[in-house]
Amino acid sequence: MTAVARSGRYILGPEVEAFEREFADFCGARHCIGVGNGTDAITISLRALGVEAGDEVVVPSFTFYASAEAIANMGARPVFCDIDPRTFCVTPDTVKAAMTERTKAILSVDLFGRLAPDLRGLGVPVVEDSAQAHGATRDGRRAGTNGDAGTFSFFPSKNLGALGDGGAIVTDDDELAARARRLRFHGSTDKSTFTDVGYNSRLDAVQAGVLRLLLPDLDGWNEARREVARAYARNGLGEVDGIELPEWDGEEHVFHLYVIRSERADALLEALTERDVGVRAYYRRPVHEQPAMAPFPPAADLPGTAEAARTHLALPMGPLLDERAIDEVIAACASG
Ligand SMILES: Cc1ncc(COP(=O)(O)O)c(C=O)c1O
Repeated sequence: MTAVARSGRYILGPEVEAFEREFADFCGARHCIGVGNGTDAITISLRALGVEAGDEVVVPSFTFYASAEAIANMGARPVFCDIDPRTFCVTPDTVKAAMTERTKAILSVDLFGRLAPDLRGLGVPVVEDSAQAHGATRDGRRAGTNGDAGTFSFFPSKNLGALGDGGAIVTDDDELAARARRLRFHGSTDKSTFTDVGYNSRLDAVQAGVLRLLLPDLDGWNEARREVARAYARNGLGEVDGIELPEWDGEEHVFHLYVIRSERADALLEALTERDVGVRAYYRRPVHEQPAMAPFPPAADLPGTAEAARTHLALPMGPLLDERAIDEVIAACASG
């Protein structure tokens, strides 16, 4: 931070370029474009892919509101699709069910730290919203590289978080990267000719410096999160009546959140809160039911979304959670 203060280069500049190189390498992508936050990363990626006002973009309703807001903000139409309530992610079938001839792109979401399935092959470009899944890996491919572009948030609570807002886009596509770079900077490459109506959405150098310090530890922290998940299972959380543990198959999950499913989720929430255990139901009201999304009603019911909204509950999760705390949470669930 002192180096940035002394450099006089506060927005973009060499520190941001260095982070962009390092994060692109970490993800296994050719390009990384640092932007102001994870919401802008989605909007700019879709714009760079050629999505325009009035176009349809398929997006799950069971996600953080920003995934859909980023679509509506550019005048495009979020078309809400269902999820598999066991994984909290879309499937090729739930996406296909929402596609029409006006579908211009798919926004998949790696929710809670689990990778969504690869949706390339459905005939339209895919943007992977990896805001909750930095470092998640499947078959050697990292979060953000399972579509035409991947987007990240560096909001402080994320697996890789800055000391303020920040975001990034990763892609292997040279032209898409060039367009995204232009769009984050008012639609210009040289500050004198403006070829697009773009955005002012740039990663700042202090945040890039912080992220460069933290990035080398990310894989270790993610492994520590997986170890907490293993400990929940090993120490008996799955035997507590009515609790289903998160579905995951080894390496790929980075447990941004540790989310169980239970028909008595609300009773558990109350009992655990009374015992000062930090639990939360994040998306009880899915995005398509939010008042601002009233203009975009889904064409069909979303039963998987309704089930996940009703039954999910996030238990404490973090790389520093120890066995004693884990056992206390399990005991609180058993008596709740
Ligand atoms: C799934 C998802 N998408 C998008 C965002 C938006 O990121 P930001 O808050 O950096 O704009 C977030 C996090 O806040 C998120 O969890």
